[in-house]
Amino acid sequence: MSHGSTPVPLSTRASGPFSGTLRVPGDKSISHRALMFGALAIGRTTVKGLLESEDVLATADAMRAVGAVIEKQDDGTYTVDGIGLGSLLEPEGVIDFGNAGTGVRLTMGIFGSHDIAATFVGDASLSGRPMGRVLNPLREMGTSVIAREGDRLPASIRGAKHPTPLTYRVPMASAQVKSAVLLAGLNAPGTTTVIEPIPTRDHTEKMLQGFGADLDVSVNEAGERVITLQGQPELKPQDLDVPGDPSSAGFPIVAALIVPGSDITIENVLLNEHRTGLITTLIEMGGDIEILNRRDASGEEVGDIHVRHSQLKGITVPAERAPSMIDEYPVLAVAAAFARGDTFMPGLDELRVKESDRLAAVARGLEANGIPCVETKDTLTVTGGANSIGGGTVVTHLDHRIAMSFLILGMASEKPVTVDDGAVIATSFPTFTKLFTDMGASFENHPSEAA
Ligand code: S3P
Repeated sequence: MSHGSTPVPLSTRASGPFSGTLRVPGDKSISHRALMFGALAIGRTTVKGLLESEDVLATADAMRAVGAVIEKQDDGTYTVDGIGLGSLLEPEGVIDFGNAGTGVRLTMGIFGSHDIAATFVGDASLSGRPMGRVLNPLREMGTSVIAREGDRLPASIRGAKHPTPLTYRVPMASAQVKSAVLLAGLNAPGTTTVIEPIPTRDHTEKMLQGFGADLDVSVNEAGERVITLQGQPELKPQDLDVPGDPSSAGFPIVAALIVPGSDITIENVLLNEHRTGLITTLIEMGGDIEILNRRDASGEEVGDIHVRHSQLKGITVPAERAPSMIDEYPVLAVAAAFARGDTFMPGLDELRVKESDRLAAVARGLEANGIPCVETKDTLTVTGGANSIGGGTVVTHLDHRIAMSFLILGMASEKPVTVDDGAVIATSFPTFTKLFTDMGASFENHPSEAA
């Protein structure tokens, strides 16, 4: 359920074949950062193709609360009139981030080195997620924190008046933690260094460079990425065009692979190397996927993805690939249900702390629909090719990607698949049902069951 809204059970049944050309909404990671960095620049940033989902709109409200003016213009472009690094105003009232982990963790980083107080709240999902991974390095930089037990939300912080720049080795593969430290470092005097043993998505680094920060990336002798940032730059406003979200594209990609006769092209999708693990994996599984028209757009690689229905085969997905497809395992598990043999996915410990315990949520959802799987502490094995898939109801646990993944399952199953709450999809992909309905999918809504 999205924060404060009523759960709406939703089902899909066998649909398609899917054909034609489509686009998915703007990238969520880039959309959050566009609003944040625009707020920290002095002058007007413009953002075309912003993802208008609940998560991103919560970030817009948080940036407004500290003084940025963010407006949607008649042509759909967002303008962000930044207040400037070091000049944030103290927000009145609490900052409600709903379901948005990226929003709250990166914002804590920004506020953590400003001399302001702020209180953060979220929905039941976000309130259960660990914030210590961000609050601990911020404490080292001088931020005061009062949080619920286990460093959960609600949490109040008082940013450091004189923040200390830090050298920080990120203890888990997390772009959010890396980004929170770098963003706190923006308003600290001197050099902040983040060492990243396992590379994760690099939008913060690339976009901060684009906004004019003095940020350098190198690789040390141990093969770790080392990011150095000189504090207190004057950030310059940018004109941004947000490409399609590869994580959202994962849903039509898998739908086309598993629904017989399908042949689709998804245009203008971000192809950043830290985001394309799902495509690599599906190609290794025998998926007929071609990247067309690769091009550069504002410093990021984008392209069109052509996908045709394919008989997939089970593989072992390398554990080191996990950071480049961390949000795509639920939909990969759905693809694996239609593959010949076993698909083994190791290195999934971070899935336990996403919008839900995604490893458990996926395993229970597969079992509810007759798909054999084995879950361990940090691995999942899915056995494909079961007879008579579907017929189950999946508990989404306020997790948009669990809802969408199992709705895709229903599009290729013998029996319909129901998710207990379709409203959660608005977190990241509010046009999901429209996009698939336009392609010929059939959704069934069960509002009466929600009462
Ligand atoms: C994100 C980083 C990832 C990812 C999330 C978006 C980001 O989280 O799961 O959806 O925009 O930095 P972690 O940093 O927890 O891996």
